[in-house]
Amino acid sequence: MAIIEIENLKKVYNPYSAYPKVALNNLSLKVDEGDFVCIMGASGSGKTTLISIMSTIDDATNGKIIIGNKNIATMNENEKSKMRKNEIGFIFQNYNLIDSLRIKDNILFSLRLNKINKEEQIEKLNKLSKQLGIEEILDKYPSQCSGGQQQRAAIARALIMEPKIIFADEPTGSLDSINAKELMVLFRKINKMNNTTIVMVTHDSLVASYSSKLYYLEDGKISKCIEKENKKQEEYYKEIINITTKMDLSHV
Ligand SMILES: Nc1ncnc2c1ncn2[C@@H]1O[C@H](COP(=O)(O)OP(=O)(O)OP(=O)(O)O)[C@@H](O)[C@H]1O
Ligand SMILES: [Mg+2]
Repeated sequence: MAIIEIENLKKVYNPYSAYPKVALNNLSLKVDEGDFVCIMGASGSGKTTLISIMSTIDDATNGKIIIGNKNIATMNENEKSKMRKNEIGFIFQNYNLIDSLRIKDNILFSLRLNKINKEEQIEKLNKLSKQLGIEEILDKYPSQCSGGQQQRAAIARALIMEPKIIFADEPTGSLDSINAKELMVLFRKINKMNNTTIVMVTHDSLVASYSSKLYYLEDGKISKCIEKENKKQEEYYKEIINITTKMDLSHV
């Protein structure tokens, strides 16, 4: 069953200026519930624009966007913000941690807002910080942590709410290869065990090979789609490398 449906999506930046920029051009795609979708493409191909619109952070110029049977166009700001708070987890490039709060208070922020009981909060915090290897920074402030640690804290903050859908733009961007791999193992586990839908942007083919479906963007359009199906991860990885290098070379 589709949890996200996008039809003829168009995004034009600065439409009334002398230089309007068409970032997405009549793009259509479907994400099924429980999918682990990866979006790849060259820099400037429209990945961040697409994931921002899919996650209701940005508005489309044109096109239909349906999330969980709800047409975004008919929702008011209040309804959208409620959906963002309760159903969506965001992991974006700028971590948006609150500087005046310790890491653990950043992570627990939404659970406290929702008045989840204390024992459950601590249990979830402990489990996630262990999985993400951030136990030693829980009492620190964001400014006292490295970029990679802040990114993992932001990931913990998104995951602790157990959202239905996770949108992640370059979630491994400031992680080393070991941490990146561990995060993908965690994503896969959440995807399989909780049936959480994941939509992730990455430029890293190895990271992408953890997905179950991959869309490749070129100039604001989907130029290729491949699926993992029953293939071994290694085989899927090779297929990904194959399409990404071909696409890169086509621009030379
Ligand atoms: N706020 C904006 N105003 C005008 N143009 C924009 C804006 N945001 C993005 N663009 C342009 O739209 C196109 C798509 O940008 P987008 O950020 O979606 O690319 P991307 O695929 O995420 O690239 P990267 O891999 O570098 O993050 C680019 O040409 C970019 O310059
Ligand atoms: Mg981007």
